[in-house]
Amino acid sequence: MQRMTRIAFLRNSLAVFTAIALAGSAFAYFDESYAQASNEADDPRLDVIYVPTPHEVVKRMLEIAKVGPNDIHYDLGSGDGRIVISAVKDFEAKKGVGIDLDPKRIKEAQDNLAKAGVGDRVTFLNRNIFETDFSEASVISLYLLSTLNLKLRPTLLDMKPGTRIVTQSFAMDNWEPDYKESVEFDATGYKGARTVYLFVVPAKVGGKWAMNAGERNIALDLSQAFQHFKGTATVDGKNTTITDGKLNGANIEFTLEIDGKPLKYEGKVEGNGITGNNWAAKKAS
Ligand SMILES: C[S@@+](CC[C@H](N)C(=O)[O-])C[C@H]1O[C@@H](n2cnc3c(N)ncnc32)[C@H](O)[C@@H]1O
Repeated sequence: MQRMTRIAFLRNSLAVFTAIALAGSAFAYFDESYAQASNEADDPRLDVIYVPTPHEVVKRMLEIAKVGPNDIHYDLGSGDGRIVISAVKDFEAKKGVGIDLDPKRIKEAQDNLAKAGVGDRVTFLNRNIFETDFSEASVISLYLLSTLNLKLRPTLLDMKPGTRIVTQSFAMDNWEPDYKESVEFDATGYKGARTVYLFVVPAKVGGKWAMNAGERNIALDLSQAFQHFKGTATVDGKNTTITDGKLNGANIEFTLEIDGKPLKYEGKVEGNGITGNNWAAKKAS
């Protein structure tokens, strides 16, 4: 990107955050961030300015993502490191990684990490989020912009099914959240609220499947849009419609009408196979 274009883009980012701040009468709260943002507007590398997530919102984001001891958490654009440090210190994540392109933020995060006493379970990387591999993450937090969330979206959708992505203020366009909540905060006297969104990476199920349910062989043809899918099933030579197709990570459910009765199927997707209680399916194409 040319230098002038980047500066214009950063000004746009600043305008978006300014709009949010003003919309919530948050001027006092964002004052300090504005000062920082103004200084940073000359840094051509940053895709978005620094504005920290209020601590109450950090806590709720990590609760909503159900962070626990089996998790590896990444914050993409980690600022002063507060979300990563809290994931490891307060939610016992086994590993936390923060990535930020601004060396000032990395220095602040390292200082905060030293005070937190969580040792080597947390790392901060001074890198560009669009050039760094974060595929080992089981939980990702984002406080960026809608445009940046969309730029990350194909990479996020290719992550392991069940990976939780928690964002605040900015969503994922037509990938609807699996959960959302307005979270109130009271930061140094200023009261406000932020919307927190949870997205669970769905397994990929689009295409043809050969399903076996008891005595029956059923051909499924599915078309998927994020965590929802629809399609047709051919049962005993007759076509029927698949309804209520839903994925929660690798967990799948749908309803088929067979002999005039709606039958609900639940199972787990593992690679090219789906296993349910008394049924199974294999990818056909
Ligand atoms: C809005 S702040 C969020 C900080 C932190 N995640 C929080 O919620 O408190 C966005 C952060 O992204 C960083 N950033 C901007 N563009 C980046 C990029 N391309 N790669 C890595 N970090 C970036 C900024 O330096 C800033 O610290």
